[in-house]
Amino acid sequence: MLDSLVDFKGQQLKIVVLTGAGISAESGLKTFRDNNGLWENHSVEEVATPEGFRRNPELVYRFYNQRRRQLLSPEVKPNRAHLALAKLESCFKNNFTLITQNVDNLHQRAGNVNVLHMHGDLLSARCLGSGQSSALRTDLDSSNRCQCCSPPNYLRPDIVWFGEMPKYMQQIEDTLSEANLFVSIGTSGTVYPAAGFVNLANQSGAHSVELNLEPSSGENAFTEKHYGPATEIVSNFVDSLIEGFKID
Ligand code: APR
Repeated sequence: MLDSLVDFKGQQLKIVVLTGAGISAESGLKTFRDNNGLWENHSVEEVATPEGFRRNPELVYRFYNQRRRQLLSPEVKPNRAHLALAKLESCFKNNFTLITQNVDNLHQRAGNVNVLHMHGDLLSARCLGSGQSSALRTDLDSSNRCQCCSPPNYLRPDIVWFGEMPKYMQQIEDTLSEANLFVSIGTSGTVYPAAGFVNLANQSGAHSVELNLEPSSGENAFTEKHYGPATEIVSNFVDSLIEGFKID
């Protein structure tokens, strides 16, 4: 399956994986762009911009409260694709980095440790005053206050909205500059800077692979591509990779 695996023989393989909403779709979490650009019936401008939050904070709080409740419900669990990536990390250890655009915790629940949540985390709140993050498993609204400021300040969902700077960018760029295998999974490739990571990896000489339900906007940048449901193609890809390296 990994046609050019032979190119890596004798090298230390440094793997960077980028995931998007498609990897969590089969766990029951909706993707962003599969419903006429509406995310759970709301426009991105309403629920995923600082302007939307200023205009109608209660709507935005409610929206992320619903997403958090759904994530914590017993029906939502890591699927075979998440589990395959956990197996990959357990094989390649420190030479494996997982960058996710997702705000769910399914990668961690599957067993991944080295995970960079570049677009934030549903299970975290952020202080509007200090910017400090704190763990959150319950609903959040305008009556909640932080514990870090005096007087205590408002809290917001710890999500990177459009127009805001994604997290961990320096670390991500450094990791991509050392990668020799870059795998993009379940992302439409429409939102930057994540959509440009394949180009950074290519510039570093990495072999780049797209695993998605259908060709993404950036498909031309990838050398190897496999299309289908993540639960099938990610597991197959990971098994071939591990088999190719004869790792038990
Ligand atoms: N298996 C694999 N891929 C799938 C599956 C599946 N079962 N279901 C859907 N997909 C693919 C779709 O074909 C699509 O290309 O997942 C991709 C999801 O794309 P988006 O909804 O655009 O999600 P994503 O790329 O993660 O969005 C990026 O945009 O709204 C912002 O911050 C938000 O992190 C998000 C960013």
